[in-house]
Amino acid sequence: MATVFLAGGAGYIGSHTAVELLEAGYEVIAADNFCNSSPESVRRAEQITGKTIRLYDADIRDTRRLAGIFQENRIDAVIHFAGLKAVGESAEKPLLYYRNNIDTTLSLLETMQQFGVKHVIFSSSATVYGSENPIPYTETMRRGVCSNPYGWTKAMTEQILEDAAKADPSLSVVLLRYFNPIGAHPSGMIGEDPCGIPNNLMPYITQVAVGKRECLTVFGNDYPTPDGTCRRDYIHVTDLAKGHVKATDYVLQHTGVEAVNLGTGTPYSVLEIVEAFERVNGVKIAYRFGPRRAGDIPEFYANADKARELLHWTAEKTLDDMCRDAWNWQKQNPNGFRDSE
Ligand code: NAD
Ligand code: UD1
Repeated sequence: MATVFLAGGAGYIGSHTAVELLEAGYEVIAADNFCNSSPESVRRAEQITGKTIRLYDADIRDTRRLAGIFQENRIDAVIHFAGLKAVGESAEKPLLYYRNNIDTTLSLLETMQQFGVKHVIFSSSATVYGSENPIPYTETMRRGVCSNPYGWTKAMTEQILEDAAKADPSLSVVLLRYFNPIGAHPSGMIGEDPCGIPNNLMPYITQVAVGKRECLTVFGNDYPTPDGTCRRDYIHVTDLAKGHVKATDYVLQHTGVEAVNLGTGTPYSVLEIVEAFERVNGVKIAYRFGPRRAGDIPEFYANADKARELLHWTAEKTLDDMCRDAWNWQKQNPNGFRDSE
């Protein structure tokens, strides 16, 4: 079976993808510098599957280190998760974001070229559609104007990969545009473990539920949506991880570049998320309405047809599953992976 190298594999999406790849029979190797994660996530992925993952403590920008890893292993495909992802921070520290997110990409591509590795999947984002495209977003739309440096690193990385594939027709690239991944593995052993105050909605809700934060601020209730709060396409992280398995199957068999949305195609509002979380888990979430957050747009969701047609993948889990599994993870791990380090 083929071996997949996960760059940034100890992170939230990488660790869930490792589980699904191992369960599908792939061999998994991972490297991470743990700037936003813990090696414990990879140990837990091994426990869930009963299989082993060779894990390197390495900065993906370091081409010498990468060459060592590619020398030691016969790598068939690469999944590039390694990046910084906090939107607000990216506006404050744009150079840090460009340096990290672009250099990881270039170093990976150079090393792949050096070792003749031809298959790569990239963690892109719905943010590349910008704010002017009509919803639902379809892959045939042009990339838009991003509202922050983080988003631009995703758009630029897509461009770099497209150019690399144009120059080398034997290269095979899948750009996975994630919508809003939430939830955790149903075992509760791995999940999202943000440092400090969470920027994203679901980890904030689970921290309110577990008593670490007092109250959720709902950013704006005067949007042109049914209940006035923003609507997003939330997707269970296990579904998303399974999408990576299908993308791996695909990328190994084809050449060229394909951008593919990974979303459910169904949007939910902030208040609908809070209500579902309370109902499914029997806990109260204190919230108040606050001002809009800069850069937020009222609504976006995926047209999920291409993923179904090209990758034979569709999201299966419900919003209730997402809420239950997010809470199950947080309850079992009030301090994330820190308790086990
Ligand atoms: P994450 O922060 O949990 O995972 C990213 C991993 O990359 C972390 O383990 C981090 O330590 C590692 N990393 C960062 N820079 C590195 C470097 N130079 N060398 C080695 N390792 C490095 O984030 P995630 O939610 O798992 O996201 C994975 C990818 O998907 C990221 O590229 C992110 O931008 C993208 N993405 C995430 C979301 C989301 O909502 N979580 C949405 C769209 C796209
Ligand atoms: C964010 C990023 C996006 C990135 C995506 C996945 C921004 C502006 N966009 O999307 O680029 O691809 O994460 O990582 O950050 N909300 C609250 N209160 C909170 C937190 C969030 O009301 O404390 C609301 C937001 O206004 C939004 C929704 O919840 O309407 C979801 O927010 P979030 O989880 O941060 O994701 P996005 O903003 O959609």
